Amino acid sequence: MAKTFVVLLSTLVAVLSQSEVAATATTSLEEELHDLDNFVQTVLACRSDSVPGLTIAVVRNRDVVFAKGYGRRDSNRGLPVNNRTLFGIASLTKSFTAALLADILAERDDVTWDTPLVDILGEEFRFQDEFRTKEATLRDLLAHKMGLQKFPDSILQFGSNVGRAELARRVRYFAEVHPFRTEFYYSNLMYDLAGHVAERLAGKPYEQLLREGIFLPLGMNDTTFLPDALEEENFSNFAESYVMYDKNGRSLALNRDLYRLLKLNNPAGGVASNAVDMARYLQYHLRAARGHDNDTNKLLQEAYKVQFVSSPRSEERLKEIFRPQFPVGVMEKGAGLGLVVGEYRGYKKVTHGGRVFGFTSLMTLFPDQTGGVFTSVNSPVINWDRDVHRVLHYRVADMLLDLDPWLNTTTACTYPQPWSTRPASSQPVPPATSRDFPRDKRDYVGSYGNRVFGNLTIYLSPTDGTLRFRAGLIGRGVVLPLNATNRILLKGPPDMFAPVQVSLEEEGGTIRRLVVPGVPPEPPVVFERGLKVPDGDGTQQKVPDGDGTQQKGGCTSGAVSGAETAVHGAWGGYPLLTVFLLVFVFI
Ligand SMILES: *[C@@H]1O[C@H](CO)[C@@H](O)[C@H](O)[C@H]1NC(C)=O
Ligand SMILES: *[C@@H]1O[C@H](CO)[C@@H](O)[C@H](O)[C@H]1NC(C)=O
Ligand SMILES: *[C@@H]1O[C@H](CO)[C@@H](O)[C@H](O)[C@H]1NC(C)=O
Ligand SMILES: *[C@@H]1O[C@H](CO)[C@@H](O)[C@H](O)[C@H]1NC(C)=O
Ligand SMILES: *[C@@H]1O[C@H](CO)[C@@H](O)[C@H](O)[C@H]1NC(C)=O
Ligand SMILES: *[C@@H]1O[C@H](CO)[C@@H](O)[C@H](O)[C@H]1NC(C)=O
Ligand SMILES: *[C@@H]1O[C@H](CO)[C@@H](O)[C@H](O)[C@H]1NC(C)=O
Repeated sequence: MAKTFVVLLSTLVAVLSQSEVAATATTSLEEELHDLDNFVQTVLACRSDSVPGLTIAVVRNRDVVFAKGYGRRDSNRGLPVNNRTLFGIASLTKSFTAALLADILAERDDVTWDTPLVDILGEEFRFQDEFRTKEATLRDLLAHKMGLQKFPDSILQFGSNVGRAELARRVRYFAEVHPFRTEFYYSNLMYDLAGHVAERLAGKPYEQLLREGIFLPLGMNDTTFLPDALEEENFSNFAESYVMYDKNGRSLALNRDLYRLLKLNNPAGGVASNAVDMARYLQYHLRAARGHDNDTNKLLQEAYKVQFVSSPRSEERLKEIFRPQFPVGVMEKGAGLGLVVGEYRGYKKVTHGGRVFGFTSLMTLFPDQTGGVFTSVNSPVINWDRDVHRVLHYRVADMLLDLDPWLNTTTACTYPQPWSTRPASSQPVPPATSRDFPRDKRDYVGSYGNRVFGNLTIYLSPTDGTLRFRAGLIGRGVVLPLNATNRILLKGPPDMFAPVQVSLEEEGGTIRRLVVPGVPPEPPVVFERGLKVPDGDGTQQKVPDGDGTQQKGGCTSGAVSGAETAVHGAWGGYPLLTVFLLVFVFI
């Protein structure tokens, strides 16, 4: 009797406190979201010099609690961002590639994360060494364990005019930078290869597989690929992205023709999405992380585990914050699959950032709390000094984890100050060009081949006698002499790509090789005169055969040359080069 009474009483207490908790929880969630909204507005106001528009999605306890747009998707026309405005999510796409592969592997008994690639791609597939050829697996590709060259951004920005099948053939020419499985070495091209593996396993193009396997089942109905948006010319609710933006509203929008470069690179960074769709995507990962141990979930759960420990150098690169300097500690521990695994104030987090063509994005998941946040901005702001994403993610994380926020509206605006002792990164100085070539212009003329990139061709314009170049998908422009012997500058339309410095190597008075330097440990890329390089694989895109910046047509129109003058005028002495270096990098 007494026992029943106690049980009854405690049940009653439990019921009471539950409803009480529920009541306070609802009001406090509303309050918290109201505070968050104010916080976002404060951060945007104080960082308006670098952020035209922002989109944000928050999932808490599996529910979508917040999906909102801020600022402008088009600053010239004053068009607002809403929660369905599309942004390039860049390298967040890598987690889609991992998820797609998990889905495909779940259907099959004969392939796992650890099946050698050569068993999937066939005997003719190989890397430069037998060890990698025999051993390398999807897990190695997705956790950045390959240690192969990833090529300088200066070359990648010209665009490889090959399909993924031909890329898979050409990986045999990729040089080793680190011995296999010894260093985390982030690679976009290895994700393109992983995308091709998906195509070979499932017999359909990567883009179709992702639509059918992930976007549509999740109801991500607006989500698409940057090159598809370009082809369909559907930018009805699509953010312009800015490669330059300042507080006086001066801006330079990216030339969307550049989206063509991602056709090959879709598996590494081609997805465009919005807050509403990405909220569903966050939910999907949170379900898988805590879901039943069915085949898909088991495979996907590998993505949230440390597969390969980051080296101190890459930790430095990832620019996390450390407790001795900051009031809290945030740490990247290593690579998962298409994701990076770490800790935030002692809680497990799984994250990825991305930057492409003037868009920057960040996604953070807290699998144990079934919460997460996604942000994207239409300007290049993943700079240590101007990072709006991390400030917002830290604030949302504190909300999801029920911790006291450590950033207030003052420090959110000054972050990483007053804490950081990291020196501001130095800006590269554009090289000085000189008036005349030190030798006859005809000496430079020729086709210089590279087995991965194809030909870099230098020719004399039949119309005006200027020296011009042609390389890859969009590399078109003028060749200029530099104020240094045996160096030239390849310069295209400034809203397309940054100028590239090239060294010349000669033998017996003849220019034999053009050498594009790599940032160590990345080796230089050498183009050799007369080297026969194969054509693509028939899937490559039609290349407009423009004559540098002067002729009309393709991506090299007179309007673009005009833009150069406008840009120089508007931006005065602003170092153009540094801004454009941001154009083609996915992280
Ligand atoms: C997206 O925005 C619309 C309009 O403001 C709003 O009604 C809707 O609830 C938002 N969606 C989500 C998931 O928050
Ligand atoms: C997405 O489109 C499908 C098919 O048209 C539709 O059934 C579904 O409701 C849509 N989902 C959302 C979230 O709009
Ligand atoms: C254009 O894209 C939007 C998503 O941003 C989509 O809702 C719409 O259906 C698309 N229109 C066409 C004609 O494809
Ligand atoms: C595995 O479980 C998830 C839910 O956690 C579900 O969405 C998915 O369809 C399941 N997959 C299979 C192959 O049963
Ligand atoms: C914000 O936080 C900083 C450092 O944590 C503190 O010095 C400052 O007083 C706080 N400002 C406000 C307005 O609370
Ligand atoms: C070119 O280089 C020489 C010697 O290095 C230097 O004296 C000269 O000022 C430079 N000219 C320009 C335009 O930078
Ligand atoms: C590259 O240039 C060589 C001449 O050096 C030519 O034979 C070859 O067809 C060119 N290849 C491509 C893919 O354009």
